[in-house]
Amino acid sequence: MTDRATRPASQFDVSRILRETSLRCVEYHPELASTSDTARELLAQLLDAGPAVVLADVQTAGRGRSGRSWFSTAGALTCSVVLDAAAIAVPPAQRGLISIAAGAAVHDAIAARGPGSRAGVKWPNDVMIDERKVCGILTEQIPAGDRQGLLIGIGINVNNSVRDAPPEIRDSAVALCDIRPEAVSLTELLIDLLNRLDHRLQQLQRSPGELVQQLNTIHVLNGKRVVIQSGVTRHEGICQEIAIDGALIIRTPAGDRTPIRAGTVLTF
Ligand code: BTN
Repeated sequence: MTDRATRPASQFDVSRILRETSLRCVEYHPELASTSDTARELLAQLLDAGPAVVLADVQTAGRGRSGRSWFSTAGALTCSVVLDAAAIAVPPAQRGLISIAAGAAVHDAIAARGPGSRAGVKWPNDVMIDERKVCGILTEQIPAGDRQGLLIGIGINVNNSVRDAPPEIRDSAVALCDIRPEAVSLTELLIDLLNRLDHRLQQLQRSPGELVQQLNTIHVLNGKRVVIQSGVTRHEGICQEIAIDGALIIRTPAGDRTPIRAGTVLTF
């Protein structure tokens, strides 16, 4: 860990985040292994105090989907939003949309900062710029006594150029600073993102059809040939759309419309 005396000042203005969002608790740390792990450890107290976010200037052991690790360095936005799952009134059949609704919120906040139509969402929950990944989202539902915590872990490459990333992710990732010259205020990006997340989660509850229709206009896989690993099954076909329950619909070479409810996109 960096020595306290030499550590750079935090990029987060916690009072401003509390003032300008609906959050009631910001759990800020200069350095954490994983904001989602800390959110799990403190879940009961964060649910009592929440809605909450766990924030770190630097995350050293971030977790990604399917047991993968998430690499990031100082300048990235790494946070985990903690909500009471009961506060999101979505029928069980549509809960698969929560992650991609969060992706839409990230997309909206990023698109407002420059890349515009170069940004898109990629099922199940990535945000892309020019076919490179700028954000990953890990959504987890964790019990805490008789409540269920909904943890939305968000990692965005912002002022951390991927030039410094390990070779295996350098070609498939991008940071905002790699495509626009000005540094982005992490406090302002987070505030905007949290407000847009509120909006997208409201939209999911009130008008899921409208959310899905908008998602399909920014979904980068539509019309592309995709290969998707779902458990032990590998699917291939042309991506059609995201369905109202969050499934990805592909048209297989046999002409069937096949819904895929979970999986990893291997090629697109
Ligand atoms: C993925 O694309 O595989 C999901 C990556 C999610 C990374 C974020 S960074 C903040 C939060 N804390 C973690 O350990 N993971 C998520």
